[in-house]
Amino acid sequence: MASTSSEWSSRLGFILASAGSAIGLGAIWKFPFWAGVNGGGAFIIPYILFTFTIGVALVIAEVAIGRRGRGSALTAMKRLGGPWFGYLGAFAVFSSFLIVSYYSVVGGWCVSYLVDAFTGNATSTDPEMLKNHFNSLVSDGTRNTAWHFVFLSLTCGVVIAGVEQGIERLSKYLMPTLFILMLCIIVRGLTLPGAWEGVVFLFDFSFEKLTAASILNAMGFTFFSLSLGAGILVTYGSYLSDKTCIPSSSMWVAVLAIQAALLAGLMIMPAVFAFGLEPNAGPGLVFITVPMIFGSIPFGDVFAALFYICLLVAALTSSVSLLEVVTAFLQNEWHLSRRTSVIGCWISLFFLGAVSAFSFGPWSGFTIAGRNFFDFLDFICTNFFMPAGGLAVALLAGWRAWPVIREEIVAVRQYSEGTVKLIHFMLSYLSPILVLVAFYQGIFG
Ligand code: PHE
Repeated sequence: MASTSSEWSSRLGFILASAGSAIGLGAIWKFPFWAGVNGGGAFIIPYILFTFTIGVALVIAEVAIGRRGRGSALTAMKRLGGPWFGYLGAFAVFSSFLIVSYYSVVGGWCVSYLVDAFTGNATSTDPEMLKNHFNSLVSDGTRNTAWHFVFLSLTCGVVIAGVEQGIERLSKYLMPTLFILMLCIIVRGLTLPGAWEGVVFLFDFSFEKLTAASILNAMGFTFFSLSLGAGILVTYGSYLSDKTCIPSSSMWVAVLAIQAALLAGLMIMPAVFAFGLEPNAGPGLVFITVPMIFGSIPFGDVFAALFYICLLVAALTSSVSLLEVVTAFLQNEWHLSRRTSVIGCWISLFFLGAVSAFSFGPWSGFTIAGRNFFDFLDFICTNFFMPAGGLAVALLAGWRAWPVIREEIVAVRQYSEGTVKLIHFMLSYLSPILVLVAFYQGIFG
C-alpha cells in the first residue's frame, strides 16, 4: 500500500493491494459458512450477480472518486460532493473502525490455529474433538481476547511500519501459495466419497430457495468481500496514477475476489458433506473442516502450518487496509501523527474487540436483536453500514459528480458509449434501488 508515497508504482501494485484488501477472512472464513447458513445456491448465485453488476460499478466509482478527489474518504467525497457527502465519507471511516474490531477477533483464531499447527495439534479426523476444540477456544473470553490482542498488534505494527516494505512483498509470494494450497485441498476434498453433494449444494439454484434474508445477506457479502462502502477503495484510488485504466483494473479486483470466495466454498463444502458435518454449522465451519482434511493427508501438519500462515497474511492485508483508512482520516482531519493515530486505535480497538471476544462465552447472554455482540456488529456493518456507504458512493458518482467520474472512466481507454451508459445506469439507478429494496426487505420483510 502506498500510504507513505503519493502513488502506486504500477497498475499491478494497485490491483494487488486492492485484491489484498478484498481477499481475506471474508472469502475464506465467512463465505463458506454464510453460504451454508443461507442455503448454498440461494446465496451464491445472487452474490455472483451482485458482484458483476453493482459490485464492479461501485468499485469503479470509489476508485474514480479517490483519484479525482485525491484524499481520504471524507476529503475526497467532500471535494466532489460538498459537506454532506463528506459526512457520509466519515461514516464509512467509522464502519471501517467497527469492522476491524471484530475482524481482529477472527484474525486471533487464525493465530491460535497457526500456533496449534506448529505444536502438532492442528489436525485430526475426529469431528467431535475438532468441534470441542473450536468451542473451547471461542467460549474462553480471556484466551479469545489474548489472541485478538496479538492479531490487532500485528495489524497496528504493520500500519505504523509502512506497508509496502514488509507485508506487500510478503503477500506477493504468500497469496499465490494460498491459492495453490486451496487447490490441493479442493482436489483432496473432491476425491472423498460423498463430496459431490457439497458441490451440488453450492451451485444448485432454485427460485423457491431464495428468501429475503438470503438476498440481503448476499448483497451484504458483496460489499464485504469487495471492501466496498468503507472508504478503502476511495483511499487506495487516491494513490492511483492517471495512466491506469480504472474500469479494467476494477474488473480484475472483482474477478480475484470472487474466485477466492468460490475456491474457499469448494474447499469447504464438499468436505462438509463427505464428513457428514452440518453445512449450517456457523463461524466454526472452516476451523473444523480444514483440520479434518489435513488430518486425512500425509504431512497434514506441515500443510496446515503453511495454510494458516497464508490465511494470516491474507487476513492482515485486509485488516491493515481497514486500519489505514481510519489512520488516514485521523491524520488528515484531526491532524494527529501517524503514530498517535495508530496507538489511539490500538487501545480503543482492543477494548471494543474484547467485547466481541467475550460475546461467545461469558457474555453470550447479552444480545441485541437476538444476536450476540460479535454477530450483531457483523450484521449491521455488513448488511447495513457498508451498503449505506455504497449508496452514498452511488449517489455521488451517478448523480452529483457524474461528469467528472465519467472523465475518469474514459481517461485512459475510450470505452464505447454503451459501456459508459451501462456503468452510469448501474450507479444512478440499479445500485440505489437494489440497496434500498434490500434494506426494506431486511427490516420489514
Ligand atoms: N474484504 C475483506 C475480506 O473479505 C474485509 C474487508 C471489509 C476489508 C471491508 C476492508 C473493508 O476479508
